[in-house]
Amino acid sequence: MARRRKVYEGKAKILYEGPEPGTLVQYFKDDATAFNNQKKGIITGKGVLNNRISEYIMLRLAEIGIPTHFVRRLNMREQLIREVEIIPVEVIVRNIAAGSMSKRLGIPEGTPLPRSIVEYCYKSDDLGDPLVSEEHIAAFGWASPPELDDMMALALRINDVLFGLFAGVGIRLVDFKIEFGRLYEDEDVRTVLADEISPDSCRLWDMRSNEKLDKDRFRRDLGGVAEAYQEVARRLGILPEGGPNDLKGPAVMQ
Ligand code: TMP
Repeated sequence: MARRRKVYEGKAKILYEGPEPGTLVQYFKDDATAFNNQKKGIITGKGVLNNRISEYIMLRLAEIGIPTHFVRRLNMREQLIREVEIIPVEVIVRNIAAGSMSKRLGIPEGTPLPRSIVEYCYKSDDLGDPLVSEEHIAAFGWASPPELDDMMALALRINDVLFGLFAGVGIRLVDFKIEFGRLYEDEDVRTVLADEISPDSCRLWDMRSNEKLDKDRFRRDLGGVAEAYQEVARRLGILPEGGPNDLKGPAVMQ
C-alpha cells in the first residue's frame, strides 16, 4: 500500500490525506487516554467499534438534516471524511448529572437535570480543556457569534435525536461531547459536526441496571471496557460481521 501523508495524530485517531482534495481518512486507534493523557491504555477492538458506532450515528443524524463531515466508511478502522477546520471549542450536552458537573456543583451522579444543559470547553490539551463561557468564545474569537448559534442549535437537535435513538435500545444518554468544524465550499463556510460520536465521547447507562457502557469503565478501572463498547454496538444492531472475534482483524484492509 502506498504510504499516505499523516495530517494529524490525536489520542484516539489519526488523520491521513484523503484520495481527493478536501477529503481526509480518519483512522480509529485502540488507544485510550483519560484525565488529559495522564492515564493511558489500549482497549482491544475499540477502534473498530468506534468506527462503526460513529458511522451509524453520523448517518442517522445526516438523515434528519444535521450536516456532518462523514462521507463513508472505508474499512474496519477507517472512514472518509470531508476536511474541515476544527473550531477549538468542545460542546458538551448533559441530560443527567455526572462526571465533572457532579464534582463541580456537588450534584450526585445520576440526578436528572431540570433541562438539557450545554457547556463549552476550550480545546487545549496544555490547559486540560477548561470550561469556558460564550463570552470567552466570542471575546477571544474562537467561534463567531453565528457559529456559536449554529453549534448550540445543532447540539440540542443532536441531543434530541441521540436521546431517542439510545432510549430505543435501552440506553440512557447521560451526556456527550461533540466538536464542530468549518467546511469551506466555494465562497461559503458551513458549520458541520466533526470528530466522532462513540462511547469514548458519551456517557451511556443501561436503563434497567444503570451499568456504565462507556469510557468511564476505563477512566474508573471498572473492567469490561471492550465488552461494554461491544454491547452498545450490538444493541444498535451494528456488530462487525464476524461478531466480536472480528475485532482483532487486520488494522487496515484495503
Ligand atoms: P465530563 O463530565 O468529564 O466533563 O465529561 C462530559 C462528557 O464529555 C462525557 O460524556 C465524556 C465527554 N468527554 C470527552 O469526550 N472528552 C474529554 O476530554 C472529556 C473531559 C469529556
